[in-house]
Amino acid sequence: MACSTDNMFLIGLFMSGVLACFGQRHLITTMPEKLDVLSGSCVQIPCAFDVPQDCSTFNSTIITSGVWIKESPYFGGRLNIVIFNSSKTYNTYQGKITGNMSWKDCTTVFFNVTSSYTNICFFRIESRPFNATDPEKSVHIVVRDLPLRPNITVSGEMKEERPVSFNCSATAPCPKHSPKLTWTLPTLFTPENQLQENSDQTKSVLSMVTFTASHLHHEKNITCTAVYPVGTSNKTAEHSMTLLFSPKNTSASLSPADPVSVGSCVNLTCSSTANPPVTNFTWFQISGGKPTQVASGQTYTINVTVGDGGMYYCEARDDHSIENSMKVPLAIEAWVNSLFGTVHTNQATAEEEPAEDQPE
Ligand SMILES: *[C@@H]1O[C@H](CO)[C@@H](O)[C@H](O)[C@H]1NC(C)=O
Ligand SMILES: *[C@@H]1O[C@H](CO)[C@@H](O)[C@H](O)[C@H]1NC(C)=O
Ligand SMILES: *[C@@H]1O[C@H](CO)[C@@H](O)[C@H](O)[C@H]1NC(C)=O
Ligand SMILES: *[C@@H]1O[C@H](CO)[C@@H](O)[C@H](O)[C@H]1NC(C)=O
Ligand SMILES: *[C@@H]1O[C@H](CO)[C@@H](O)[C@H](O)[C@H]1NC(C)=O
Ligand SMILES: *[C@@H]1O[C@H](CO)[C@@H](O)[C@H](O)[C@H]1NC(C)=O
Ligand SMILES: *[C@@H]1O[C@H](CO)[C@@H](O)[C@H](O)[C@H]1NC(C)=O
Ligand SMILES: *[C@@H]1O[C@H](CO)[C@@H](O)[C@H](O)[C@H]1NC(C)=O
Ligand SMILES: *[C@@H]1O[C@H](CO)[C@@H](O)[C@H](O)[C@H]1NC(C)=O
Ligand SMILES: *[C@@H]1O[C@H](CO)[C@@H](O)[C@H](O)[C@H]1NC(C)=O
Ligand SMILES: *[C@@H]1O[C@H](CO)[C@@H](O)[C@H](O)[C@H]1NC(C)=O
Repeated sequence: MACSTDNMFLIGLFMSGVLACFGQRHLITTMPEKLDVLSGSCVQIPCAFDVPQDCSTFNSTIITSGVWIKESPYFGGRLNIVIFNSSKTYNTYQGKITGNMSWKDCTTVFFNVTSSYTNICFFRIESRPFNATDPEKSVHIVVRDLPLRPNITVSGEMKEERPVSFNCSATAPCPKHSPKLTWTLPTLFTPENQLQENSDQTKSVLSMVTFTASHLHHEKNITCTAVYPVGTSNKTAEHSMTLLFSPKNTSASLSPADPVSVGSCVNLTCSSTANPPVTNFTWFQISGGKPTQVASGQTYTINVTVGDGGMYYCEARDDHSIENSMKVPLAIEAWVNSLFGTVHTNQATAEEEPAEDQPE
């Protein structure tokens, strides 16, 4: 019964009448899609496999070889695509299957990685008479000369007396050469590094810091540096971010700022230095002593009517907080003049003049 061959030979299988197995994956592997690796270092490929039972002559106690092939899952006897064969002492890639194959663990380490190791790699089992490669799962090994910059994530808001936390994480593709993370902070803190496993079984090193925000940190930089030991030297990558302290300096401005006449246009613009940027601006007019929402959006354009005169402010809102600007006055020419008791004919003139003549 030959229910145990490469997919290449499915036609053969079909002819031999083993219909139950037609089109099935004979080997199902689990491995990350992609691994970013440093040249000169090693790469550990987390790998597990399973063999659908009803369709195989697989006997885990008699596995002879774990094999990695590159470029294509279809071996077809092409020895030039074999990069690693656990049964051989010399291989194209120097490596070792560190997982226990009897436990269906095919975790593999390749040492002394060079740029030529950049490839799509497939896993294959040879356990006579069972030979199979999983055609649907592969790992893309990408070899780089310099490490990727670590990731920084932030939680909490830079607001006086509020705790703010930063996580820095850097990939650790080679367990023996895990990066060491250090911080440059505007405050004293001694974080610790910890190795963690990601959802795709790849590893990274994580460092967490928490401190109480202060306005003194405004525009100070925070930097996380990852140092990878490679051979006798180090390879370094870092990620910096500039701390922007709340308040967001929300302010409202008018253009034109001078008193305007009825029928002309005025732009009210709300600005904020918040980080991350504010996405929701809302405008209020104080009327009858109470704020009334009149518009939303960073810029509010008014074609002035007599009732538009008065005080305005804007509200800048993000996920964490709301901040209001100072109130700004929208003055209408005639209205201003009447306050000073020097009414000329401005209002009447304004109403009669064509809009094009008004300042914009
Ligand atoms: C697997 O192989 C071992 C050793 O050859 C043998 O003793 C055992 O019976 C086999 N198991 C199955 C399920 O065929
Ligand atoms: C792996 O090595 C074994 C032992 O030398 C050999 O029988 C087998 O054909 C090799 N497999 C591949 C895919 O090269
Ligand atoms: C692998 O697992 C088998 C079965 O549990 C065990 O007998 C063997 O010693 C293990 N091999 C290694 C290298 O740990
Ligand atoms: C990696 O290569 C160096 C020389 O380039 C050699 O000394 C070392 O043994 C190799 N390491 C492994 C694990 O093969
Ligand atoms: C940073 O995060 C992105 C998205 O989550 C991820 O794709 C990337 O691999 C991470 N980089 C490092 C160095 O951890
Ligand atoms: C940092 O990582 C820890 C552990 O994974 C997590 O609980 C926490 O929410 C993370 N914090 C930030 C700021 O990403
Ligand atoms: C903070 O970092 C930016 C760019 O990352 C740099 O231009 C600036 O000079 C740094 N500021 C300080 C105080 O180090
Ligand atoms: C590499 O970095 C470590 C700290 O992570 C340091 O102790 C060591 O001196 C550095 N080695 C070289 C050759 O720079
Ligand atoms: C303002 O509105 C009036 C009446 O709707 C219109 O005649 C005038 O052209 C508008 N002015 C501007 C500058 O759009
Ligand atoms: C912005 O805030 C205003 C006032 O709370 C709300 O009515 C509006 O739906 C918000 N818009 C968006 C896009 O979140
Ligand atoms: C108001 O904003 C619009 C669009 O941004 C612009 O075209 C117009 O010139 C501005 N008017 C004034 C008076 O600033």
